[in-house]
Amino acid sequence: SQSATGTAVRGVVLDEVASGPSFTELHLAAPGPNEVEVTIAAAGVCGSDLHVALGEWNVPRPVVLGHEGAGVVTRVGENVTSLEEGDHVILTWMPQCGSCRQCNNSRPWQCEQVVEVIETKGVLYDGTTRWSRNGSAVHHFAGVSSFAEKVVVPESGAIRIRRDAPLDAVVLIGCGVATGVGAVRNTAAVPAGASVAVIGCGGVGLSCVQGARLAGAGRIVAVDVNPDKLEVAKRLGATDTVDAGAEGADVAELLRDVVPGGLDYVFDAIGRTSTTEASVAALAIGGTAVVVGLPPEGTTARFDPLALSESSRRIIGSHYGSIDPRRDIPALVDLYTEGELDLETLISARRPLSEAVEALEDLKAGRALRTVLVN
Ligand code: APR
Ligand code: ZN
Ligand code: ZN
Repeated sequence: SQSATGTAVRGVVLDEVASGPSFTELHLAAPGPNEVEVTIAAAGVCGSDLHVALGEWNVPRPVVLGHEGAGVVTRVGENVTSLEEGDHVILTWMPQCGSCRQCNNSRPWQCEQVVEVIETKGVLYDGTTRWSRNGSAVHHFAGVSSFAEKVVVPESGAIRIRRDAPLDAVVLIGCGVATGVGAVRNTAAVPAGASVAVIGCGGVGLSCVQGARLAGAGRIVAVDVNPDKLEVAKRLGATDTVDAGAEGADVAELLRDVVPGGLDYVFDAIGRTSTTEASVAALAIGGTAVVVGLPPEGTTARFDPLALSESSRRIIGSHYGSIDPRRDIPALVDLYTEGELDLETLISARRPLSEAVEALEDLKAGRALRTVLVN
């Protein structure tokens, strides 16, 4: 069914929040200049897909969901120089424009055009979409839309990786793993021997735990309200755990019981007022709190500014693990193939793409850490 003008593709579309996503037939146009078509082998079901499906984040609809994907380049548009047919790629929702102030400042993870065009408008860089259904436009999600058999993405959104890596595992590197490992190694640059705590052991927090292990941290304290998640954290390198589930638990105090004098680094992998405040309150002199989780818009948190100026504590934010996708995604794939990065423990199930709706329900219910949808 492929032609010069495009191809028939099945994908997961969200029309209205109330009716939920559905698996339907779509039309995908051919890649334009500086775009590539990727045949998807695997897609990870990650938090932002759920936020959109539940109506907690507003994006232009109808939209093809999915923002973690891996596959093989099957067509290249005009002017594409860095990729060719047959390349294995991991998709990134940060397809850097290469020319905005942040890109010019070596901060590709903050590309302004990605926010303004790709995320906000649900289109590609020329302002249009490659998706349609019965002749009407359907939007891209985060420039990825990986819950589909094939996609068209900007050239900078498809990152070439080694061909011997299993796509149904390394697919997780595209979002959650890069975000968590990058927060530790890039944003905070945690040194060997440091004491680290991670609040929230979902896909992102567990990746912070792995990042801390890779950094050679001396103590790695995992915090969660769910004891099952704490067991997983231990498997990934946590040296200690704190169950924050008890009524009235004071996380900062519990952390100080484990590491007297406070932590060198605390990663808030949830982003609630209470977890951000606990992150700052648990710091040692000179310690750094890193906000990784995305709070809902409009919330606030309180801290004692004297604890910063008097004791050199810092509060910093980490977006997408401060990664440069072209440098860091292939490097994380290497770590996986060398046996240094555990992805299998993060994967609760593999399911066919047609079961994306069930996979989103599992994530919502806390039944799944990560589901990988396979084509
Ligand atoms: N204290 C400790 N842990 C908590 C608390 C709490 N008050 N509330 C929830 N948790 C735990 C949950 O039990 C779960 O293990 O936090 C974890 C959150 O995991 P996920 O829902 O899987 O979230 P994840 O995909 O890791 O994303 C974390 O990053 O991208 C953002 O929007 C995302 O803000 C979210 C964060
Ligand atoms: Zn994600
Ligand atoms: Zn840019």
